[in-house]
Amino acid sequence: MIKEDIRLALDNIKFSSAPYSNFNVSAVLTAKNGEKFTGVNIESASFTPTICAERVAIFKAVSEGIKEFSRIVVVGGLEGVVKELTTPCGVCRQVMMDYCDPKTFEIVIAVDEDNYEVYTLEELLPKGFGPKDLEG
Ligand code: THU
Repeated sequence: MIKEDIRLALDNIKFSSAPYSNFNVSAVLTAKNGEKFTGVNIESASFTPTICAERVAIFKAVSEGIKEFSRIVVVGGLEGVVKELTTPCGVCRQVMMDYCDPKTFEIVIAVDEDNYEVYTLEELLPKGFGPKDLEG
């Protein structure tokens, strides 16, 4: 359920490791088989290795052989205080395009269980480039 995923994402934001931006993000990814994968952003002192919460969740799942997803919930805020909606960055939208159906995959951006918005991947990444473009 979306509200349960939002609660889990909010509870997990404490695991975010973002000492440079102080912007903490947490995501909960649902696979088509019902499994949940969590992720938080993890920053590096050399900056470029920094990875977003969404990609951590997706890569955790893919690394365990799960490649079909139906939804991701994202929450974020400075110092871990979630006051506004946080939308996935362009790089994460592209990685979603690699694994998710743009017409049906749901991206839920939330402040709390009563304040959230739901978009399809296609809405947030119109005309995205994906695996289908590489088919002959
Ligand atoms: N970040 C995420 O983890 N997900 C988003 O959707 C937006 C940005 C992270 C990356 C970086 O650690 C911090 O937030 C500030 O950009």
